[in-house]
Amino acid sequence: MTPDVRPLVAGNWKMNGTRECLTEIKAMAEGVQGALSEKVETLICPPATLIYVATALATDSPLQIGGQDCHQKASGAHTGDISAEMIADCFGTYVIVGHSERRTDHGETDHIVRDKAAAAHDAGLTAIVCIGETADQRDAYETLDVLKRQIFGSLPPGATAENTVIAYEPVWAIGTGLTPTATDIAVAHSFMRAELVEFFGDEGRRMRILYGGSVKPANAAELMAIDNVDGALIGGASLKAKDFLAIYGVYEGLTA
Ligand code: PGA
Repeated sequence: MTPDVRPLVAGNWKMNGTRECLTEIKAMAEGVQGALSEKVETLICPPATLIYVATALATDSPLQIGGQDCHQKASGAHTGDISAEMIADCFGTYVIVGHSERRTDHGETDHIVRDKAAAAHDAGLTAIVCIGETADQRDAYETLDVLKRQIFGSLPPGATAENTVIAYEPVWAIGTGLTPTATDIAVAHSFMRAELVEFFGDEGRRMRILYGGSVKPANAAELMAIDNVDGALIGGASLKAKDFLAIYGVYEGLTA
């Protein structure tokens, strides 16, 4: 972890979850409420249909609720999309932008992702900007080039340590049970840190860089101990309160 940076443990439910899953959100909200400290920030990004009810359930808890995507415009003729303002209107505080599934399924480019992050900032949300290489890019030793290109292409000029979080998610590690070695993660995160510092100065030093891709209770401690890993973006293991709280507990332990 980066010294003096408050880690973020964030869950991305993707297209999973109906109203009956709100019991999991309730259990998470209660589970983090009893924490000794608020040294660790927690967040769940459910499907858009659940954001409003989820924020109501988590009102008395430090658990925050966010969106999984937003449109780059505040309103208009964009059937099926939701704006950052709408997420903020539902009391969401974060939004994920540029997840690899959005980049692949919806053809989102760095340019679009940057506009979405700027829209999130305009609405007062913190943007979690996802970047990461594909298996082919890794095999061609292009990982660091890809990260550099995505960082500078996807971050708007107004990005600060408060309104922006980076999530490094190797595409080949998402939902596969595979993770890079600790050394590979350390190399990638220290590279991103250096790039962020070069571009954003002191803000870049404090900007959180999460790791995502097959994070689970069993590997959380090892991942979190790596320099410049300031939290986790968790897919599958964030659907159940038991697993999410176990990962959160590892962070609490490490920051105690
Ligand atoms: P996973 O997903 O934890 O299921 O690998 C991570 C993500 O896509 O954010």
